Amino acid sequence: MKRNKIIALFTVIAVVFFAACGGSGSTDKAQAPKEESTKEEVKPAETSGLEAQLELGKQIYTTKCIVCHQADAKGVAGAFPPLADADYLLADLKRGVAQTLNGSHEEMVINGVTYNAPMTPQVQTLEEAVAVINYVLKTFNGFTDDKLVKIEDVSDIEINPMTITQ
Ligand code: HEC
Repeated sequence: MKRNKIIALFTVIAVVFFAACGGSGSTDKAQAPKEESTKEEVKPAETSGLEAQLELGKQIYTTKCIVCHQADAKGVAGAFPPLADADYLLADLKRGVAQTLNGSHEEMVINGVTYNAPMTPQVQTLEEAVAVINYVLKTFNGFTDDKLVKIEDVSDIEINPMTITQ
């Protein structure tokens, strides 16, 4: 009697084990790849380039710009100008990309406050400058994707990293 019970118990365990492993393995293979591949095919075609760009922009902003322009991009009045709702930036987005790339040293009035401290060049490439400006426009200025700066529209900006470094 005892022996039969033990054998029966082992059989139950074995059946449950096989059902669990075999069952889940085969459904995974049969269903999961189909669902995922349709999702992933649609996404990159539309948004992955912009998503990657905004992610890069976020990284640049949070490692560099944030120190002066602040986490909310409102700056420090009289010292570091705002990038959020700043009339000066919004008046000329291309100029903003160029300043990020080449630095800036000129007196400027932004939302009625005067700024006149130099900013050294902040990034190495036009792609990085566009990425961080687009991140700023989308995150702190409520821009929709279609209003963001396109690289081809600003590709004639010349890189001149020495502009204000001396
Ligand atoms: C060390 C401090 C500092 C850092 C870091 C910094 N900036 Fe600036 N930024 C300034 C100052 C100061 C000015 C004003 C320059 C002038 O008067 O010519 C300025 C001006 C600007 C302007 C033009 C004015 C405006 O408000 O639109 C833009 C655009 C800008 N910065 C973007 C950036 C971006 C993007 C980053 C990060 C990649 C960055 N800055 C990093 C200090 C900084």
